Amino acid sequence: MDPLHHANEPASNPIRDALALHEPRALRTYTPTLAVLARSAGVFHWTPEGKRLYDFTSGVLVANLGHNPRSWMDRFFSHMHWSGHPTTGAYSPALPMTAYNAVTPVEVEASQRLIETLQSRPGGSRLQQLLWAASGSEAIQKALWASLARDRNRDTIVATRYGFHGKKGLAGAVTGCETDRDRDPRVRFIGFPMDECADIDRRGQSFDPTPYRRELDALHHEFGRRLSVLISEPYLGGGGSYHPPAAYLRMLQAFCREHDLIFILDEVQSNFGRTGDLFAYETYGLEPDIVVLGKGLGNGVPVAAAAGRSDVFAALDYGEASDTWSANPICCAAVLATLEEFASADILAQYRRASAIVEAGLVQLKSLPFIAHIRGEKGGMVWGVEFRDHAGKSASEWANAAVLACYRGETDKGDGIHLMGPLARKVVRIAPPLVLSELQAREVMELMVRLLQSLIR
Ligand SMILES: Cc1ncc(COP(=O)(O)O)c(C=O)c1O
Repeated sequence: MDPLHHANEPASNPIRDALALHEPRALRTYTPTLAVLARSAGVFHWTPEGKRLYDFTSGVLVANLGHNPRSWMDRFFSHMHWSGHPTTGAYSPALPMTAYNAVTPVEVEASQRLIETLQSRPGGSRLQQLLWAASGSEAIQKALWASLARDRNRDTIVATRYGFHGKKGLAGAVTGCETDRDRDPRVRFIGFPMDECADIDRRGQSFDPTPYRRELDALHHEFGRRLSVLISEPYLGGGGSYHPPAAYLRMLQAFCREHDLIFILDEVQSNFGRTGDLFAYETYGLEPDIVVLGKGLGNGVPVAAAAGRSDVFAALDYGEASDTWSANPICCAAVLATLEEFASADILAQYRRASAIVEAGLVQLKSLPFIAHIRGEKGGMVWGVEFRDHAGKSASEWANAAVLACYRGETDKGDGIHLMGPLARKVVRIAPPLVLSELQAREVMELMVRLLQSLIR
């Protein structure tokens, strides 16, 4: 396949060519832009040609505090003891960058501070210990391993349909739905209220959890004590941004309590501020047995963790959840920097006004004939824009055209907006860093409205 090229990108195009030569396309999810990002700071990326892009992805909800944020970087470096000698400039000994089969103080400090933070939020009381991991899907896998190990005769996992928990191992097994290929027979899916939250303005209106509860009761009738664990995302992220009524998630939790299932909330995407609170379990009034964290946890350093009940984690023996990278000092230093940044400034309160401006701009887009729905977290910083078929073009074609138009901007020299390729083929995710200012929010939304309007001229 020919590598993707864009006009007037003499520096980016050779990089795309080299990529196509050395890496298979499987390593990327499809995007019509394949933006080459040379540098980043705050809410912006710059291409090698010097074009500035508003980042509306946060690198798939990772850089919640923005890119290379100064005070986060200072804290990170300081936790690693990365500093030159004050007079000679020579390196002084710093933390090791490995800690396999050993322990570093930074790991213990990060564990302690993260648990303290989780427990200090309403609903966090069951989050007593951590299973560190190097990616969200590994942390999901460890959470499920521990839940199943609690009683090895209880082998059935319940997952909410169309969730995204990763692609690897058990994380892949609980992703999607029963009609996907190569299903793991231990996993049973139940419905997620997608129709009831098809639009931000109609979210949860007249929601009745009864049919969903019936599905759970039917599973209990079939499997009884074999039901071991239930996993859900707080909102469907990769599945196309469906944000459910809190009553749905609370009903899942109540079922777990009644029948002694472990309730796992996958917050890999929602954690560190996306739903308007530090964690979605606060927003939705939940008290999960295990919460899985990732993405924004390290603000760009690859780190994830399952936080949960110590009695459940104790079911795993030496080595059953260990690996090369988990609790690496670099990860732990990054987690400490993230926790300190959130503790030192009221980031969540500060972004509320920017959030309202972005949401108002998105709602304005609904007047365009190819936009079907806007969904998202009210007072949060994550939305999905769903496109529809119009004028002989499919929803997917409109969504891709919008991503491309935003990337290109109004002129070669003017700003663009960096977006991911559409989710579920027709939903464009909007997830700027939480540090987007009011002024930036206003400017970028005016730009976005103009760019999408230009698609019908
Ligand atoms: C909710 C959720 N869970 C798990 C994962 C998997 O995380 P990772 O890609 O780090 O394995 C993702 C990734 O997008 C996610 O959004």
